[in-house]
Amino acid sequence: MATVREPLPQTDLSQHPLDPLTPEELRATVAIVRKEAKLDDRVLFETVMLREPEKSVVRGFTAGDPISREAFVAVQDRNAGKVFEGTVSLDDGRLTSWAHLPGVQTRSIGEEMEEMEQLVKAHPEYIEGLKKRGIEDLSKVMVEGLTQGNFGTEEEQTKRLMRAHSFYVEAPGHNPHVRAIEGLAPVVDLNKMEVLRVEDFGVRPIPPETGNYGSEFLSEQRDAPARLDITQPNGPGFRVEGQQITWEKWSLRVGFTPREGMVLNTIGYRDGDEERPVVYRASLAELVVPYAETDNDHFRNHSFDLGEGVFGTCVNSLRLGCDCVGEIHYMDIHMANGKGEVVSYPNAICLHEEDYGVLWKHTDPMTKSTSVRRSRRLVVSSFYTVGNYDYGIFWYFYQDGSIEFEAKLTGILYCAAVEDDKVTPYGRLVAPNVSGMIHEHYFNVRLDMNVDGEANSVVEVEAQHVPSGPDNPHGNAHTTKETVLGSELGAARDIKPELGRYWKVVNQSRKNRMGGPTGYRLVPGSNVKPMHQPGSPFMKRAGFVEHDLWVTQYADNERFPCGNYIPQSAGGDGLPDWTQRDLPLQDEDVVLWYTAGLMHVPRLEDYPIMPVEYVGFKLQPVGFFDHNPALDAVPPHKH
Ligand code: CU
Repeated sequence: MATVREPLPQTDLSQHPLDPLTPEELRATVAIVRKEAKLDDRVLFETVMLREPEKSVVRGFTAGDPISREAFVAVQDRNAGKVFEGTVSLDDGRLTSWAHLPGVQTRSIGEEMEEMEQLVKAHPEYIEGLKKRGIEDLSKVMVEGLTQGNFGTEEEQTKRLMRAHSFYVEAPGHNPHVRAIEGLAPVVDLNKMEVLRVEDFGVRPIPPETGNYGSEFLSEQRDAPARLDITQPNGPGFRVEGQQITWEKWSLRVGFTPREGMVLNTIGYRDGDEERPVVYRASLAELVVPYAETDNDHFRNHSFDLGEGVFGTCVNSLRLGCDCVGEIHYMDIHMANGKGEVVSYPNAICLHEEDYGVLWKHTDPMTKSTSVRRSRRLVVSSFYTVGNYDYGIFWYFYQDGSIEFEAKLTGILYCAAVEDDKVTPYGRLVAPNVSGMIHEHYFNVRLDMNVDGEANSVVEVEAQHVPSGPDNPHGNAHTTKETVLGSELGAARDIKPELGRYWKVVNQSRKNRMGGPTGYRLVPGSNVKPMHQPGSPFMKRAGFVEHDLWVTQYADNERFPCGNYIPQSAGGDGLPDWTQRDLPLQDEDVVLWYTAGLMHVPRLEDYPIMPVEYVGFKLQPVGFFDHNPALDAVPPHKH
C-alpha cells in the first residue's frame, strides 16, 4: 500500500536564531564582504560565523517565527598588515559595519601554513641546514608552524610572525611528529610571506626510530577482543530537529564556531510540565599548552590553540564504529576557509547514548529485594587534531540532572631531539634521542549560566572544621562554610581539594521544597596550578590560569579569557583586566570561567602514541530538584 505523504510545511520549524550559518549564508556573507569592502585576493578570512542575536531575541523566540540573520567576519589584510571586523545583514544583503582594529593580529589561517611550508622548503639557508643534518630529500620533511609568542623583541610588536619546526618522515604514513629536525627554525613574516632568517641552534641527531603506530607496521598484534555489539533495535532515545536535541528530560541546541568548535546553547531540563533553563551557552573558550623546556627555541612554545590556532577548523570527520559505537547520529559542520570558500566537515559532531553502569541501587535488608536503575547518558562529542595532539571534547548529560565536561587528550607528544641521553631536567627520554618535553594543558570552559532564569548568584562552599571545645566535645563536628561571591574581584577563586571546595550557582528567587534557593554546582575534577613563574611572558599572556575559577557579569563581547585577539599579545586583556571593574554578581546574569589543567610529564608509555588522558569537571543539581530526579527511571527489566 502506498504511503500517504504529508505536504511539506511552508516554514522549517526546526530553524532557530542560534543556528550556525548555512553554506548558502557563508557564501553570501563572503560575497557581500568581498564586494563592499573591496578586498584584494591576498586578504584572508579568519572568521566567518553567525553573529549571535541578543539573548532577549532568543528568549522571545517561538518555532516558526521569522528569523533575522547576521554574520560576523574577521579578515587579515596581509598587504596592509591590518585586521578588519565586519558585520553583514543577511536579510538585507549588505555590509552593516566595517572597522579596522589597530594593534592586533588574526589567528594563523590554514592556507598560510600551506604557503609557509612551500616558502620554507625553497629557502637556501633552510635547505643548507637540512643538508648539515644529512637530509637532502625535501619530500621527507614535514614543516609545522610554531607561534612566536611575545618575549619583548621589536619584531614581535610590529610583525606577524611564525616559526617553522620540521620533522623527518621517512615514508608517507610514518609517524610525522617523533623525529624532530632539531634546532633549525626559519622565522617567517606571515603577512609578507617571506623568510626573515633561519635560526640554527646546532646539529642534533635525527632520532633513529620511526615511532610508527599503525597496525601495518606491527609484526604482531594481540588477539581481537570478544565480540561486543551495542545495538538499539528501536533507534536511539534522543530526537534531533535541526540543531535541537531532546533526550530524556534534557534539551539543548548544538552550535559550532571556527574558534571554539562545538558550542552548546540553551541547555534546559523538563521538570513536570516546566522547561527549566540551566545553562545559556557552554563552550571551550581557550586551550593553551605551555612547555617547560629551555633548550633551543622551545621556551617559546605556549600556543593558544583557540586564540592563536584554528581549533574549530581542526575538527575531525568521525567514522561509525571507530570513534564511537552504537546507534550514532552525526551532525555536519560548514565553515569558510581562509579564501572564503565553504568547506564541509561531514560527521563532525557525534551524538549517541551510553550505558553508564548503576544509576542508583539498594537492597532492602528486610525483604532482601533489590531495586536498581541503570544509568544512561547522552554523549555530545567532537574531536580536534591540532598538529601533534588530538583532543576529544565530550559533554555528557545524565538522568540525575548532572552534566559533565570531559576533555580527552591523545595523539603524539611534542618531541625534541637530543644527543644520546643529554636530556634537560625539563624533558623525559621517551625513545632513543627523543625528549618528550614537560608541559601543561589548560582547558578554559565558559559557562553562561541560566539557573531557573537569568538572575543568579554564586556561592563558594567548603568543609569547615570545628575546634574541639564546648561546641565539639567529641571532636567529630564539622560543617560547611558558604561564602557569597559578591563581586568580580573577589570571585577569582582556586580549588581546595582537601576541603572539597565547590561553587554553586543559585537562583534566590526560586525556592526548592525545603525553602532553599535552586542551584547547580560546579564540582572540580583533578587540576594543577600554573608552573610558569609570575611575570613570565606566558603568565602575562595567559593571566586566566592564575585562578581556577573566575566569575563575571555577562557582557556581550566577552567570549574568550584572554580577549579576542591573542597572537603575539603582550597580555593585559581578558579576565584579570575585566574583573578589575568589580561588577556585582548577586542576582545578576553571571558567567563562570573554569580552567581544568593537567600537567603532562611524558612517560615511555606515551610513545609513540598516547593512550587517552582525561580532565574535566561536573555540573550537578544542588537543591534544583525536590528529590532524586531519577527516581522515576524505569527498572531494567522493563527496558
Ligand atoms: Cu600533553
